[in-house]
Amino acid sequence: MPYQIWNRRYTGSKYKLSEWISDLIAKNCEGNSFCDLFAGTAIISKQMIDNVDEIYINDFLYSNEVIYKAFFEQSDFDYKKLNDLKKEFSKIQPTEIPENYVSINFGNKFFSYNDALCIGFIREQIENNNDLNKKEKNILLASLLYSLDRAANTVGHYDAYIKGKMISDAFVFDLITPYNFENKKVHISRLDANELAKKISCDIVYIDPPYNSRQYSRFYHILENITKWKKPELFGTARKPKAENMSEYCRNSATKTFEELINSLNCKYIVVSYNNTYNSKSSSSKNKITLDDIRSILESRGSVSIFEKDHQYFNAGKTELPNHKELVFITKVGGQND
Ligand SMILES: C[S@@+](CC[C@H](N)C(=O)[O-])C[C@H]1O[C@@H](n2cnc3c(N)ncnc32)[C@H](O)[C@@H]1O
Repeated sequence: MPYQIWNRRYTGSKYKLSEWISDLIAKNCEGNSFCDLFAGTAIISKQMIDNVDEIYINDFLYSNEVIYKAFFEQSDFDYKKLNDLKKEFSKIQPTEIPENYVSINFGNKFFSYNDALCIGFIREQIENNNDLNKKEKNILLASLLYSLDRAANTVGHYDAYIKGKMISDAFVFDLITPYNFENKKVHISRLDANELAKKISCDIVYIDPPYNSRQYSRFYHILENITKWKKPELFGTARKPKAENMSEYCRNSATKTFEELINSLNCKYIVVSYNNTYNSKSSSSKNKITLDDIRSILESRGSVSIFEKDHQYFNAGKTELPNHKELVFITKVGGQND
């Protein structure tokens, strides 16, 4: 079955809340342009795109940028060519291909050995295929990322793999389903959110930063590594490369960074998603920014309305989060409190 944009496991994905959030935006904001500054899976962009003429989709991870270009960029591609390649990939016999970067580093850990062989082999084929335009290459890469995520021996991210069990072969390559929009301006970027915020002017800005000290670039290091395909040296049991793209939103500077972001926005409405894990027992899942700080920083820009919803939180099963609530703060810039 071809993949839809929400068919991936992603910490903090708003897939299950996407209708609630987009309804809140539709009822409380007005505008023709929308910016998803910390887009993650881009499910909120997907939900909003029909309501606006112009959209900005941004995240600082390489793998997310490729996925956004594959789904949203409006340029030509030859579906038959991609489908033929998919058929070729499905005939690959792991016993007939040589060891590669993925099998050596991640085989019998994050994937079965055979699956890792196939993933590395397909990645190399995509890299060396000179008959692909940029859109086709992005569709194949995104398809590989979605397909390998299905087969991964993890709880949903790549900070660690599940140890002590036989890993069965599960990898099947399938294509993503790109979107077709008419008359929409789509801007895709891989920038630090605070940098992009200074450069654009947009009616509605949606802000969904990381909430705790868990760094996305470390959680999704395998997706980043396979996307970039520079084959760096890897370290430790989880075979991670040297750190990059470490977010200020996961550090003690989060509140200051958030305040700078909010003050630099040139927009009519600011929509912020956050949750109430400030009192979590595990220090790595504690909120980095308090709800009071979010509210007072937003109130310096306008009138703020707060909406909340009970939400079943997904995690690796270590952290108890009773009464977990998802919150959405909607600020009308220049409103009463400005
Ligand atoms: C909570 S997730 C967003 C989830 C998204 N709304 C969804 O529904 O899938 C936070 C995202 O922010 C990104 N991120 C973290 N720090 C960033 C920064 N400084 N600039 C841009 N993106 C950042 C992470 O890569 C991650 O994808």
